[in-house]
Amino acid sequence: MAIILDGKKLSEKIIENLKEKTSVLIKKPKLAVLLAGNNPASQIYVRNKQKKAEYAGFESILIPLPENATEENILEHIYILNEDSSINAILIQLPLPNHINKQKILEAIEPIKDVDGFTSYNFGRLALGYKPYAVPCTPKGIIRLLDEYNISLEGKKVLVIGRSNIVGKPVSILCQKKNATVIMANSYTKNLKDISNNSEIIISAAGSSKFLTPEYIPHGAVVIDVGINRTDCGLTGDVDFAGVINKTSYITPVPGGVGPMTIAMLLENTFELFQLQKDLII
Ligand code: GUN
Repeated sequence: MAIILDGKKLSEKIIENLKEKTSVLIKKPKLAVLLAGNNPASQIYVRNKQKKAEYAGFESILIPLPENATEENILEHIYILNEDSSINAILIQLPLPNHINKQKILEAIEPIKDVDGFTSYNFGRLALGYKPYAVPCTPKGIIRLLDEYNISLEGKKVLVIGRSNIVGKPVSILCQKKNATVIMANSYTKNLKDISNNSEIIISAAGSSKFLTPEYIPHGAVVIDVGINRTDCGLTGDVDFAGVINKTSYITPVPGGVGPMTIAMLLENTFELFQLQKDLII
């Protein structure tokens, strides 16, 4: 019988802990979220992030910009947030509108305020095995969830499906740091079924609704579903949950698995950046 990896429960525990730590502070950690454009999913994510930040006793501000905002508009806001000593963490919600150069925008964030760990300074340090100011939230949340259930990565064959900067690349780095043998798959990968059937842990961030059917899953596998796909049948993951659950040893649900962990790690990163900045001033 599979064990459900309950990201909702663990995220609540982490957020309660942060709330307790924050309650005794006079100055609170402060997160700034910049949302450019009208992507409906992004609007929901951002609202959730802010709601949880406020619940934890953090301060948070939202900078909404129109779909036709220019790179210069966005950069101006980032420069102001970089300079504002009351702001501890800056999050640029992705995706940005198509006409915006994402690299230019993310690289403008001061690394010590880069709550997603997306700047080349922080990402580079992560890749090199040095400590970054912040580790990307979703990958960090996945590792935390595996740790919580004592699922070791050491010597394990891990398949990561998807090579995005947000999930696939950083989670592969974190798994290797824990001595896993990692295979990265993408949409060009041949014989994915053979590869997945030879894997012990499967992390899917492909963004393709329910494509991981029972034929892809070996008995006893740990399955981590990062997919959040909005379909006519509602929110679905990359995994055919009902179809594969009896083959797995552990599996994350959608919703209630990786999603809430991302938000918990965002708040944890905000808190850690706040602490770091405080230590720098003293
Ligand atoms: N869009 C989807 N996931 C993320 C994330 O982790 N961080 C940011 N900034 N945008 C996202």
